Amino acid sequence: MNKKTFKDIDVSGKKVLVRVDFNVPLDEGGNVLDDTRIKAALPTINYLISKNARVILCSHLGRPEGMVNPRLSLAPVAKRLSQYLNKNVLMAEDVIGESAKELASSLKDGDVMMLENVRFHKEEEANDPRFAADLASLADIYVNDAFGTAHRAHASTAGVACNLPAVAGFLMSSEIVAMSKVIENPKVPFVVILGGAKVSDKIGVITKLLTKASTILIGGAMANTFIVCKGGDVGLSRYEKDKLDVARKILEEAEKKNVKILLPVDSVAASEFAPDASKKVCDSYKIDAGFQSLDIGPKTIKLYKKEIMKAQTIVWNGPMGVYEFPRFKKGTMKIAKYVAKSKAVSIVGGGDSVSAINESGYADKINHISTGGGATLKFLEGAVLPGVEMLLDKED
Ligand code: 3PG
Repeated sequence: MNKKTFKDIDVSGKKVLVRVDFNVPLDEGGNVLDDTRIKAALPTINYLISKNARVILCSHLGRPEGMVNPRLSLAPVAKRLSQYLNKNVLMAEDVIGESAKELASSLKDGDVMMLENVRFHKEEEANDPRFAADLASLADIYVNDAFGTAHRAHASTAGVACNLPAVAGFLMSSEIVAMSKVIENPKVPFVVILGGAKVSDKIGVITKLLTKASTILIGGAMANTFIVCKGGDVGLSRYEKDKLDVARKILEEAEKKNVKILLPVDSVAASEFAPDASKKVCDSYKIDAGFQSLDIGPKTIKLYKKEIMKAQTIVWNGPMGVYEFPRFKKGTMKIAKYVAKSKAVSIVGGGDSVSAINESGYADKINHISTGGGATLKFLEGAVLPGVEMLLDKED
């Protein structure tokens, strides 16, 4: 990576503003449901503590749209982080208000504080220069460790870097290094597994990977758009009518480039979009009337397994079905297991795929589990990530 990191700069005794991505799922009671992103930020925070820096953490949580929403407070996250750091994380009541400023200036060497949800201010997403300067005024150095938000040009991910020496954190640099290594020179067969609801979310990444992949396995509702464009009848299944042309172009392009695109041949179809719907296995190209596909079927699992087991490189992003409904997550869980068991160098990104890998118990068999969802896709597309672009270059 050609960017300076937190190790290239003297942080001792300095106030360091660290942008982390603590956008984690919470339950109704505000408890953290999955703390993968909190744990992933620990190396940077622990390093800064060990160097006697004064750490000011900044993150968003959810999409409060510029308004204070107590249900999206970062206080439960600060509590969980305190447990991992084995020290009290001081929670500010606001982001750039008096209480945050007072707390930041009262920090002692090795102390850690957390600002409130930065998206409580509409200026954050607008990348307002004044707001970015106010944020920057809390600290002497800026470290961006929020890989998951690096695709957003917001005040705390990009704007703030105009006002302070700005470097990458451990997570940011390790995500970039690990993914670049795999993507720049993938060993073949290179199998890409894409799922999720929409083709539109994945157009960029498919287009880019068509130049590198050997085989693309498609699942989730996005597969239905391709199946309809090939003349299939998907019954009541979700698909994107306005993306049929895009899907057709992708199929044509794949044929020209000799890339195999595999679509489901059978589906677990449900009588309604509900966790307890009655289900049956149907031909993916002829879903029974009144039914909709919510998972890939057994023949498809077998077909995809064969490709996964031959692979030397695997990139997986997106579930094969409605993962949040336990009765329709089998396809995703099986794929997780096969990816983990294959001998391929593997990258897994995106919330549900990562949850499936964690749940499968084989997470340690994956070469790189990305904390990003949209950011990982953008990175794999080859897009410039504003949160990275703004950081100091190695030679600066
Ligand atoms: C994510 O979860 O993908 C990141 O935290 C970015 O969140 P956003 O899509 O709300 O910007």
